[in-house]
Amino acid sequence: MHKIALFALIAASLSHAFQFPFDIKNFRLTKPHIAPSLGVVPPRSPRVAIIGAGAGGSSAAFWIGKAKERYGLDVAIDIYERNDYIGGRSTTVHPYNNTAYEPVELGASIFVRINKNLWRAANEFNLSLYGFEEEDGDMAIWDGEQILHTVMASGSWGSWLNDLKFLWRYGYRSPTRMKELVRAMTNKFVTLYESDVKSWSSIEELNGALNWTELISQTGAEYFQSHGVSQLFTNEIIEAATRVNYAQDIDSIHGLEAACSLAADGGGTVKGGNWQIFEQFVERSGAQIFLKTEVVGIERHSDRTWTIVTDAERRDYDAVVIAAPHHASHISLPADLSSLIPPQPYIHLHVTLLTTTAATPNPVYFGYKPGYKVPTTVLTSLDGVRRGGKAPEFNSLSYHGQAKFATNEHDRSETGEWVVKIFSMERISDEWLAAMFQNQVGWVLRKEWDAYPVLPPTTKFPPIKLDDGLFYVNAFEPFISAMETETLASRNVVDLLLREKFNSSICPLDEEKEKESSAEFVYGWDC
Ligand SMILES: Cc1cc2nc3c(=O)[nH]c(=O)nc-3n(C[C@H](O)[C@H](O)[C@H](O)COP(=O)(O)OP(=O)(O)OC[C@H]3O[C@@H](n4cnc5c(N)ncnc54)[C@H](O)[C@@H]3O)c2cc1C
Ligand SMILES: *[C@@H]1O[C@H](CO)[C@@H](O)[C@H](O)[C@H]1NC(C)=O
Ligand SMILES: *[C@@H]1O[C@H](CO)[C@@H](O)[C@H](O)[C@H]1NC(C)=O
Ligand SMILES: *[C@@H]1O[C@H](CO)[C@@H](O)[C@H](O)[C@H]1NC(C)=O
Ligand SMILES: *[C@@H]1O[C@H](CO)[C@@H](O)[C@H](O)[C@H]1NC(C)=O
Repeated sequence: MHKIALFALIAASLSHAFQFPFDIKNFRLTKPHIAPSLGVVPPRSPRVAIIGAGAGGSSAAFWIGKAKERYGLDVAIDIYERNDYIGGRSTTVHPYNNTAYEPVELGASIFVRINKNLWRAANEFNLSLYGFEEEDGDMAIWDGEQILHTVMASGSWGSWLNDLKFLWRYGYRSPTRMKELVRAMTNKFVTLYESDVKSWSSIEELNGALNWTELISQTGAEYFQSHGVSQLFTNEIIEAATRVNYAQDIDSIHGLEAACSLAADGGGTVKGGNWQIFEQFVERSGAQIFLKTEVVGIERHSDRTWTIVTDAERRDYDAVVIAAPHHASHISLPADLSSLIPPQPYIHLHVTLLTTTAATPNPVYFGYKPGYKVPTTVLTSLDGVRRGGKAPEFNSLSYHGQAKFATNEHDRSETGEWVVKIFSMERISDEWLAAMFQNQVGWVLRKEWDAYPVLPPTTKFPPIKLDDGLFYVNAFEPFISAMETETLASRNVVDLLLREKFNSSICPLDEEKEKESSAEFVYGWDC
């Protein structure tokens, strides 16, 4: 459903990305209104607080803004964000920390065509996308001791099925079955954008409506193998996708998230950074945002209004939307409410970004002769470990094209250095990098993220509604964790909240309306 999927990943290393037709040049981003300080407390009027300005929180503000725009709903929105930027786990950095270089995604990078909220937002906000579909590149799968398979891939399945070596190893049936199973999942997923979509009061209810219990209550390995996909294909190819996308192995991650890792048709990333979508969400919502402002507590009153407590201040609200993973937010809640949210471990991921003049990773590391052209995307499988071998030292290593000077829109000059991104469970040392890139490393940046939940098979989820007027967007993450799904989770939360507190909604509450059949229709945008 998102991200660096097997083929999109290769394409991410393209050096001449094409742009989508809706790329409009002279679009200038205006800064959202950044409140200078919490200063004066205005008189009491309906107010909603949102905690977190990532994909979830920024889109929550945007959805409330839609109700204000459509129905003249009178409600003020305050967003609290402890970072000094909008975007959360979606943010960019410049090579050498020099803004003359084009920025590179440090967290979430890819979303796909069926991620209709993000796609629509990029389009409507006139942001340009890099698309990955028509690019070629080499991809290898490494098991820690040997390269299992090398594919020349372009963003489509067709090319796999024309690859004789690929078919020789995996057969025709497994890739075909996998494709069918993923298609069945995405066909359900896209119903979430239809005009007659119902809001859900729990993830369990949504899971039931989508009929995904079988998918999510088993590991990816169990699910795919019980549906006719071979063990070899599951452990090598599908696992490469779950390891690059969620840093989890196919025999531990649930089947739904495994299937999402494979739903990669039509991947894109916003030129200049995906965070621009989230900044626009905030801007268009008319919300006031307090950056560098950590919420330390949420207090409940008997009339179910709420007080947000920061180090500097306390403010009262009619409703509060928590749009950050609860345990890492360190927000104190009334004990009966915090006990509703089960402990949720996150994958602690190391991201290493670097620039190098080495055109490929070191062939000797991978057991080839010096001079051999190693593919510039190396995914990994744990199947070597299952056979008693060594574990790969990284989850994925991918070239992302040349570092470019972003001097102007039309003339981006190349620098002679490639940008490389490595995901791993441990810190990657300078010595390791020097060996992998033959002492040709220019700039290195290391970032550790609590990237995504640990996603074992389950049928129980955290509550979306913690109390009257208190909602939890990130309850969605153990179901699916991605930028797009956070915008869907926030849309649902806002619909529940508006109905409960303001007798309002994002779209008309007309139960009887005709189902809109246009493929372009997106609930919440078009109503
Ligand atoms: C390396 C990496 C790669 C990824 N790749 C992809 C990808 O390619 N595609 C994709 O779709 N997804 C990807 N993801 C997952 C994606 O980033 C997340 O699912 C999504 O961005 C989560 O959005 P969110 O708004 O729910 O949470 P976050 O982005 O984490 O936002 C929560 C915000 O709340 C703030 N906050 C927390 N506590 C407080 C507090 N007490 N007070 C005030 N503010 C607070 C935080 O500072 C943060 O900004 C990736 C993630 C990582 C780390
Ligand atoms: C990057 O540069 C900015 C502005 O020059 C500076 O404030 C910041 O500390 C630098 N960051 C790093 C990681 O060096
Ligand atoms: C995007 O471009 C279209 C067509 O040029 C224009 O009508 C619209 O106002 C632009 N939107 C923004 C947000 O700039
Ligand atoms: C729900 O999924 C199961 C398999 O998991 C399938 O057998 C059943 O037919 C599906 N039901 C509907 C209504 O689609
Ligand atoms: C809620 O709003 C609808 C119109 O959208 C109105 O008909 C109804 O009376 C309202 N209900 C309450 C309780 O205000």
